[in-house]
Amino acid sequence: MNVCVVGGAGYVGLVTGVGLAQIGHRVVGVDIDDERVSALNAGRSPILEDGIDLLLERNLTNGRIRFTTDFDEAVTQCEFVFVAVGTPSQSDGQADLSQVIQVAESLQNHLAAYKIVVLKSTVPVGTVELVRDILGEGKEEGRDFDIVSNPEFLREGTGVRDFFEPDRIVIGTSSASALKATRELYAPLIDGDNTVDHAPIPVIETDVASAQMIKYASNTFLATRISFINEVAGLCERVGADVREVSRGMGYDPRIGHAYLQAGLGFGGPCLDKDLRALIKIAETSGFEPGLLRSVLDRNELQIDDVVRKVKFMIGHLLYHRTIAVFGLAFKAGTNDLRNSMAVKVVTQLRGEGATVKAHDPVDFSEAEQAGIHSCYVADPYEAVRGADALMILTDWPEFSALDYGRIRDLMASPAIVDARNMLDATEMAALGFSYNGIGRGVDPLSHAGRP
Ligand code: UDX
Repeated sequence: MNVCVVGGAGYVGLVTGVGLAQIGHRVVGVDIDDERVSALNAGRSPILEDGIDLLLERNLTNGRIRFTTDFDEAVTQCEFVFVAVGTPSQSDGQADLSQVIQVAESLQNHLAAYKIVVLKSTVPVGTVELVRDILGEGKEEGRDFDIVSNPEFLREGTGVRDFFEPDRIVIGTSSASALKATRELYAPLIDGDNTVDHAPIPVIETDVASAQMIKYASNTFLATRISFINEVAGLCERVGADVREVSRGMGYDPRIGHAYLQAGLGFGGPCLDKDLRALIKIAETSGFEPGLLRSVLDRNELQIDDVVRKVKFMIGHLLYHRTIAVFGLAFKAGTNDLRNSMAVKVVTQLRGEGATVKAHDPVDFSEAEQAGIHSCYVADPYEAVRGADALMILTDWPEFSALDYGRIRDLMASPAIVDARNMLDATEMAALGFSYNGIGRGVDPLSHAGRP
């Protein structure tokens, strides 16, 4: 089938586009970012994602994918128009739908032949109706177009795998024929075939409102688990328990499971925080009190204060003119994404209190404009810790566990570590002479730090 992906050079659009090409469709990714479009046509992916380079190259070579900035040309020949544009948070938490609206308005002129408009972007309930109203001006639903809500569940770093092995495919629509066509589009994934070798994937055929709600509820549930375990971690510190043991013990209950129970700095990234805020706003505007969801967000923000408090406990309350080394800037390991990174928020707070921050990440952020990160980025981890009063580990890159902490101790002005991702062995660090403080790891008798 011929598929156009609007927002095709963005994270969701690109992974979806190359995925659909790989399962046999002819895909054109359209995007307003001409630099990204040129790079993609030359086989260079702007995102760091396992497997994306290979898939991009293979499908560019066999002519099943291409990229353009020409919206009109791209949509004309397509039966499916995937909308994968951004829906960022506005200052009040509400999703900003301006890009979705713009796509719908541009599409109005291109419905000479019937098209199925598939909403991939996470959008509040009611957005399908809005798109329907825009497209419905002069055109008729069912004859000229149909709308499908088909939310994505891609995790950065494993997005390609998540595309090919989704836990479920959600198709929300009121049109039987659009449902059938969308099922056919995904048939190689759903049924399994020579291209993709695995068991059939559950398909949730539902109404559009429920499809959109499935996405919000899933992401906010994941956020809830993380805030829950972070709150338990705080309690563990008070009673001398180890949250890693607690998570492990809880996870064996099949009703609970092990995933998303890793205590740390809290959740960042482009989705969980944004979707949580948007759902809170949706609740408020519909006159419903989202007390639980608000607490999930509050706990997440408190994690930043908690880790800064830990560093102050170790090196003194005044951070002015103190040097703090930071390991990790990306919002999680395996990505080059700084969006809504908790690590960046901590760096901003430390600098706001007058500290000098030297931040290392395996990804080169020496040109990252966001929050002035380029000015504190240090490419070499050992250079980052030289003369530092404390080291904070803020992203769970496995590389950090493999560093030479004896050397790091010798380079630092004072050997203090706040390990906000519980990467290191507390006993080993104490034996090396570090004051060491993790998250929810009780009172380690060998640690110089003791309880926060
Ligand atoms: C998330 C959802 O998982 C995905 O389904 C959705 O479609 C997009 O949003 P992503 O943002 O890529 O994916 O990251 P994810 O792996 O979910 O991690 C989010 C944040 O939570 C990261 O900052 C991570 O460090 C943190 N996290 C995750 C924890 O602190 N503890 C955990 O146990 C798991």
